[in-house]
Amino acid sequence: MTEKLPNPELLEYLASVVASSKTQPNSTLNFDNLLEMVESITLNQTIYDTEPFTKTIEDQLSVEMDVQEIYDDVLETGSNNFPSLKREAHQMYANMFLQRQLPSGFSALDASHPWILYWLLNARVLMGEPVSKELGSKIDKTILACIDENTGAIGGGEYQLGHLASTYAGLLALALSGSTDAISKLDRKKIYRWLLSLKQEDGSFVMHHNGEVDTRAVYCALCIASLLNILDDQLTRGTSEWIGSCQTYEGGFGGIPGDEAHGGYTFCAIAALCILDSPLNLRNHVDLDNLVNWTVKRQYALEGGLSGRTNKLVDGCYSHWVGGLTPILEIAIDHKRVIDRMKLQNYILCCCQDDQFGLRDKPGKNPDFYHTNYVICGLSMCQNYQTYDLKSADVSKLGTAYGFTPVKIEDKDVVDNLPANSLAPLDPIFGLPSGVAKSLCEFFVNLDNELSSSR
Ligand code: FPP
Ligand code: ZN
Repeated sequence: MTEKLPNPELLEYLASVVASSKTQPNSTLNFDNLLEMVESITLNQTIYDTEPFTKTIEDQLSVEMDVQEIYDDVLETGSNNFPSLKREAHQMYANMFLQRQLPSGFSALDASHPWILYWLLNARVLMGEPVSKELGSKIDKTILACIDENTGAIGGGEYQLGHLASTYAGLLALALSGSTDAISKLDRKKIYRWLLSLKQEDGSFVMHHNGEVDTRAVYCALCIASLLNILDDQLTRGTSEWIGSCQTYEGGFGGIPGDEAHGGYTFCAIAALCILDSPLNLRNHVDLDNLVNWTVKRQYALEGGLSGRTNKLVDGCYSHWVGGLTPILEIAIDHKRVIDRMKLQNYILCCCQDDQFGLRDKPGKNPDFYHTNYVICGLSMCQNYQTYDLKSADVSKLGTAYGFTPVKIEDKDVVDNLPANSLAPLDPIFGLPSGVAKSLCEFFVNLDNELSSSR
């Protein structure tokens, strides 16, 4: 059963918001931009006059009203009070959970030890706080204790099954801690055999023995192999074709062929393709125009934030899963701009910061480790462009995933890159601060070169 939305009340509310916003000063660009966003919404509301009133629309409206209220408050308090990144509070949040044992209420995350460490460390480093030796060695110990002796892979916790997602997250945590001692303890030959045992005839991978196939598994497998310098033809045969078969009529990618296009699976698909081939060749593997079209549609006019799929709600974590497609796609389409960075930054700064500390999905939600990391990743993406050099020494030595260089955006019409909000640039493929993945891969490439020359 559907019914028409009784929306005069909403329209009245929106009209009052727009009217009040017009009286506000607007000396900063974020503030100007927010004002524009707020003004544009009277146009968007026409959809609610014509569409049937469903639960989906009700939920969407409720989010819009929450966001609108926040933006209204921001506009009311004036441009000098535009929210900035509460860096110290978020660092405190990350450190609070990095430095002590998690309370028992977190037992549901018992299979996610490497993930928790990666999320918190990564957010912390992107916010500019380096990993101390002491913390690094605690991280290394925890991750190494998760190694599954049968496969050499990293499990979700001690004595747990080796899993592609926890191996990916554990490896990133080790890369962030930066200790080559710990990294050298990984048995790359064993991990290579394990990766090969997860490989399917059609080019895809299963997440773990007897596990499910999806583009996450492919992305994790290729990240692991690339970072450990064990990527070869046997591991990659048929994989780009399989990834291509996951693109849907909408333009985004499902987890498997025939599934609905979703931001998380789309990021995994596209980042994996960049490990296999240059982003400049993306058009050879996917319907690029349709992908760009789908990506653009993930950004909502009122919220400025991104959704993960059609007719679903904005969520801060898609600032990475969908926002993270932006620098890759921009390279593939000759630096045309894909999303509005200023609008996304507005959503992140105004709506994704918890009142106390940590970052969240949307207003009304609690902060958590996962959103803290991926919202910070998205904010970093907003502040930087990427250039790509296919002919660079890094690409020839390490592979196509390593040809990106970040360029801080200085154009104030694109994003208001104030020092208070400024983050370390993000590697567009690996979900790490720029340079960290390269150092890790380089370590193994040099090691392998030394080994082969000493033979
Ligand atoms: C929500 O689906 C799902 C997510 C928020 C996670 C998506 C992320 C991935 C699939 C990528 C994982 C990557 C790695 C490397 C393991 P939902 O149906 O609850 O949310 P929706 O309504 O926004 O679609
Ligand atoms: Zn989310």
